[in-house]
Amino acid sequence: MEHYGEQTASGHLHVPAASKVPYADDVLAGLHTDAQAVIARYPNARSALLPLLHLVQSVDGYITGRGITFCADVLGLTEAEVSGVATFYTQYKRHPNGEYTVGVCTNTLCAIMGGDQIWDAVSEHLDLGHDETTGDGKITLERVECNAACDFAPVVMVNWEFYDNQTPESTIALVDDLRAGAPVRPTRGPNRQCTFKEMSRVLAGFPDGHADEGVGAGPATLEGLRVAHEHHWTAPPSSFSGPEADHADLAADARDERAVVREVAVESLEGARQATDTTQAGE
Ligand code: FES
Repeated sequence: MEHYGEQTASGHLHVPAASKVPYADDVLAGLHTDAQAVIARYPNARSALLPLLHLVQSVDGYITGRGITFCADVLGLTEAEVSGVATFYTQYKRHPNGEYTVGVCTNTLCAIMGGDQIWDAVSEHLDLGHDETTGDGKITLERVECNAACDFAPVVMVNWEFYDNQTPESTIALVDDLRAGAPVRPTRGPNRQCTFKEMSRVLAGFPDGHADEGVGAGPATLEGLRVAHEHHWTAPPSSFSGPEADHADLAADARDERAVVREVAVESLEGARQATDTTQAGE
């Protein structure tokens, strides 16, 4: 896998020739069966493209040339249209991906909580840059943007499962365990770490039975709720139901937020006025 993920001088990715070798008959038959189940969920077949690309990754480990052809054939699209989508989203890999995608969040909050140090340490430990894969095919390392888990920063994800409050040391231990095949369990969510192909099949819409395992919202996520209970804050009542209620709730929330902002501004002004009075009295 020494060249995968690297670009030629003209900017093209090195993709193995096997990417275009046709599927074996039994694999193709399985893909067609699964694809029909996915397509049946949508009023328009072409709407199934995103899950079908995940389905291709669940078989091939990345978006192969033959996978592009398969999606185009079953959805009545051109290969150019399928490629255009596959190259737009970063979750679709255009070259062989590791068994575990390790994403180090270096967005604002994680960065200031140590994400940059984690990235530097793991990148050096594995001798990998962004979107590069270890020679044993186990780990693909990525710099990722916010994982929507800022309450547990700095966060590392493995195939989109959370590893909260990480350090350079804990992340190095994590990638070493993954490479060694040692049992690894995410901080929240499922009881075991899934592989890239397994995760891709779930994203294609085929549950693996692990969805309800483990912790969902941790203490940091629930902190706001705890404070609200402590102060007996509740959502404003609504006399509507249905979509109107959502609009009314949002409008009420906005009104409440404006009231709080006004209250804080008045308090600030009052504080400033008192400080000025005190200073002038002391002169
Ligand atoms: S900034 Fe890292 S999870 Fe939000």
